[in-house]
Amino acid sequence: MQTVRLALIGFGNVGQGLTEIIAEKNDNFAKQFGLKFQIVAVSDIYWGSVCDPDGLDPDQLLGAVQKGEKLATIPAAEYGWDANTTIEKSGADALAEVSFTDLKTGEPAASFIRTALKQGMNVVTSNKGPIALHYPELSRLAAESGVQIGFEGTVMSGTPVLRMGSDILKAAGVNRIQGILNGTTNYILSRMEDGASYADALAEAQEKGYAEADPTGDVEGFDAAGKVVILSNLLMGTEIGMDDVERSGITNLTSEDIRNAKIDDRRWKLIGAVEKDGDKVTASVQPIPLPMSHPLATIGGATNAVTFSTDLLGDITLAGPGAGRQETGYALISDLIAIYNKS
Ligand code: HSE
Repeated sequence: MQTVRLALIGFGNVGQGLTEIIAEKNDNFAKQFGLKFQIVAVSDIYWGSVCDPDGLDPDQLLGAVQKGEKLATIPAAEYGWDANTTIEKSGADALAEVSFTDLKTGEPAASFIRTALKQGMNVVTSNKGPIALHYPELSRLAAESGVQIGFEGTVMSGTPVLRMGSDILKAAGVNRIQGILNGTTNYILSRMEDGASYADALAEAQEKGYAEADPTGDVEGFDAAGKVVILSNLLMGTEIGMDDVERSGITNLTSEDIRNAKIDDRRWKLIGAVEKDGDKVTASVQPIPLPMSHPLATIGGATNAVTFSTDLLGDITLAGPGAGRQETGYALISDLIAIYNKS
């Protein structure tokens, strides 16, 4: 049995989702993979910080926030460490970086990840900022330290789109990727087709927890653009940035546009795409009125989907959840299992 000691930076929805999975499934993971996940530190800008080299009780961590209490109310050896101190002193084997996303700088998450990689910790993250903006650098740093960085949760949460693209489809020659990569906008478009107004549909998406803290990131296509950058750099071998993605969101689409598309047997979808033609790469996020025969046209609500066009297999479409507490927590667990499972 191998114990994997984890430090969590961030204890919002995703950090709590990861902790819930560990609380519920650790015995299964022990049986299936010979791995036991032990949370030794949590540092969160709001909930505070605790560390214990003998392990923190996941139920106590979750119980504190459920009661609206700071983490300092549970038994631990150390309290009050900031994120950097936690990474440097917790003695964890791996960092789960699940703090807030900033798609302009990737900070402060990118610096937390650099620190962890340089001191020989594996890193798993669902944070799009550092991966969209700094992946080539972070992946070189990981290689130099002989550790790994897992980021399945940055695109389509726990739906294994990155692993499918990078492992299983690698030899098939992926030449184009098209996807519904943002749940909020897909939900809004589906609800507008049902007759809801844009404002009501957006408010519903916020209530259901799909939208980013600032939903501009969703409706103007920035969130999808970050995911396009990640898909392109990981699966197409490019080194593109956010500015290389031609981007437009859904804010100019009217209810009339949506009704007219329906009459033509089409459906508007916000499509993130990357296409490689020789050395030329085209990356975009834009609303497209897809014909109903297109595999992405029938993906409704907050569901995400990606169609890979390949040289050897034609088109492969993968659909599944694109966001959510447990769904994204699962992505981190799947990365950890990929890193530590030797069976
Ligand atoms: N706001 C994002 C979405 C969350 O709606 O898809 C997942 O990245």
